[in-house]
Amino acid sequence: MNTETFERYESEVRSYCRRFPTVFTKAKGALLFDENGKEYIDFFSGAGSVNYGHNNSYIQEKLIDYLKSDGILHALDMYTIPKREFIDFFETKVLLPRGLNYKIQFPGPTGTNANEAAIKLARKNKKRRNIFALMGAFHGMTLGALAMTTDKCSREGAGVSLTDVTFVPAPYMFPELDSIEYMERLITDDHSGIEKPAAVMIETIQAEGGIYVFDVEWLKRLRAFCDKYDILLVVDDVQVGCCRSGTFFSFERAGIVPDIVTMSKSIGGYGLPFAITMFKPELDIWSPGEHNGTFRGNQLAFIAAKAGLEYMLEHNVQQISVKNGEIIKGFIEKEILPLDSRLALRGIGSIWGIDFDKIPVEDLAGKIMASCFEKNLIIEGAGRKNSVVKLMPPVVIDEVVLLRGLSALKEAVTDNLKNI
Ligand SMILES: Cc1ncc(COP(=O)(O)O)c(C=O)c1O
Repeated sequence: MNTETFERYESEVRSYCRRFPTVFTKAKGALLFDENGKEYIDFFSGAGSVNYGHNNSYIQEKLIDYLKSDGILHALDMYTIPKREFIDFFETKVLLPRGLNYKIQFPGPTGTNANEAAIKLARKNKKRRNIFALMGAFHGMTLGALAMTTDKCSREGAGVSLTDVTFVPAPYMFPELDSIEYMERLITDDHSGIEKPAAVMIETIQAEGGIYVFDVEWLKRLRAFCDKYDILLVVDDVQVGCCRSGTFFSFERAGIVPDIVTMSKSIGGYGLPFAITMFKPELDIWSPGEHNGTFRGNQLAFIAAKAGLEYMLEHNVQQISVKNGEIIKGFIEKEILPLDSRLALRGIGSIWGIDFDKIPVEDLAGKIMASCFEKNLIIEGAGRKNSVVKLMPPVVIDEVVLLRGLSALKEAVTDNLKNI
């Protein structure tokens, strides 16, 4: 395996390749292959970008047809047929059946850019600078989104002060603290020192934060709090949207309607760069070009995104997500949790995390992930001290492959617990 070129020339900033030090060549469904022809099971899904599987054949065909037709590829935000068809489909098949009425913005094609657009628009609408974000949040690496992101390592890279955000303890952090009452107190107490925010920004399931699923009652109370105080509720569905949580949007289970929603990763269908920021029509006070970008509206991604939605509806991917989630949960409860009483399991739909934090061994989760890689399983970490092993296979993973991956994980956990 020759990785010398990368190690010599590619910046030290590279990250995932350090955990998975091989050279990948092909991918199909939930399987990856490297240049030695070794096969890996993917429990990472490109950080949640290939929920419908790598090189999904249905989407692939649509892409090939479009490429062969000499269809326009780069069009900035000009009108094109792929864009029209995506918007029409998204509106009629995804938004309207859910009673959602949003306008759609195509920002630069990354999650962080969708979030930049969201908070700019919130601040512009409410003419307030502050944003409430939650401790444990991850919203991206550009400065506005990074200001709402809590992990120390990412923030240290900023090199400037990250301002105009107030962090609120996430509901799981201090069980005795009612975080909604806390927010209410912050904005009503004239000695809190905190400015009323334009928006509260949340992930309904903190993914990078360690797989914390916020409960439905808390989400409903947050919606009511925002309504009461004329604050916008922004949901970042970049990672847990597109059926990852068991429903297309992660907030559906709470029956709430956010004012602004952001998506990226799997909304691009095929792992292509794509992002959308959606908002209630009355918030659309942008001036033309006010949030700009050369790669807004990647035509191939429009094709893949629409095909991804067709595939999702045709194959009932929401149901598959729930069914696979039950398999994952059942397996871990039966086969892995009994290995050590200090383990904790959290998750919903097809995103799960096993937390090793209570076992006082330096970087235990990291060691387990390294063992997984040796057993040809690609799996990543999350959470404080990276103590959580995060299971996020393609939502449509085949049951046999899923069980093979789970068995490899069990072996890796067993091996590592044996040594402590
Ligand atoms: C919840 C959430 N928001 C935003 C982002 C940033 O997305 P991107 O890396 O595409 O900028 C991520 C990336 O992992 C994420 O998980």
